[in-house]
Amino acid sequence: MSAKPAVLRTARAVGAWLAGRPKPVVLVPTMGALHEGHASLVRRARKEAGPAGTVCVSIFVNPTQFGPGEDFDRYPRTFAADVALCGASGADAIFAPDTSGMYLGNETTVVEELRLSAPLCGRARPGHFRGVCTVVAKLFNVIRPDVAVFGEKDWQQLAIIRRMVRDLRFPVRIVACPTAREPDGLARSSRNTYLTPEERKLAPRIHQAMKAAVAAGGSPRRIAAAALERIATIPGARVDYVQAVDSETLEEAVDRSRPARLAVAIVLGKTRLIDNIAIPPVRP
Ligand code: PAJ
Repeated sequence: MSAKPAVLRTARAVGAWLAGRPKPVVLVPTMGALHEGHASLVRRARKEAGPAGTVCVSIFVNPTQFGPGEDFDRYPRTFAADVALCGASGADAIFAPDTSGMYLGNETTVVEELRLSAPLCGRARPGHFRGVCTVVAKLFNVIRPDVAVFGEKDWQQLAIIRRMVRDLRFPVRIVACPTAREPDGLARSSRNTYLTPEERKLAPRIHQAMKAAVAAGGSPRRIAAAALERIATIPGARVDYVQAVDSETLEEAVDRSRPARLAVAIVLGKTRLIDNIAIPPVRP
């Protein structure tokens, strides 16, 4: 484990650097503005790699996953702090290409998952998951990891990446990490920095509402309705969706026979926050 990770700016530099490195190679894809949630992924990557293996974090704010009018331009960029966090969490290298290093600008090929990408965030953000799948496929081809680590915070993204890996037979094992939260329960996110102090005070009520709804029990539909009722009382909160979905298929959960997730997207002021928690199955 090196305290100062190598910073690699091009695919060619990655190739040269990785050539001498021991396997397994474990990748943590990110867009930077790293926080404790990302750190937990890097620590997990280090565990997967073992002391001798290789941990690479990619930092790339991927333009193709942002829609028109979304926050690509103002997405926080904190590279120096990101490098320090990666080093402290056990990364050996950081792949941080510029846009032209990932996109020629005249590509006519994309990667699109067709089913899991449709509901939830897919509705409000058309093309988002196509951008995610395309860039993750490119990262897999540049770094050729044995293992890639993703967060449960973005449950739909995780399910889609798993499906892409299965369908396209990428030779990579996907590892999922639980959502890291602030002490008050708010899911850590690079976008939390957009919240005003007043919004930041209200934001934990989203997770509180979700937990209370799952604890109250009942059918998935009843749980979603209970969560929605509580979230609707948060001043300034606009509900994009509050849904109970099957953990794997992301279709609306009909009963408690299979693992499900309570998934929400809430716009607080100008900031879109997403979160999800487990709705455990109940044995009949
Ligand atoms: P980003 O939002 O930077 O997230 C990078 C990884 O960190 C994702 O796997 C995400 O699920 C995970 N993560 C974020 N917040 C977390 C939290 N509070 N707890 C646990 N894990 C958390 O997701 C992306 O970037 C991009 O879409 C990417 C996959 C890099 C493709 O561009």
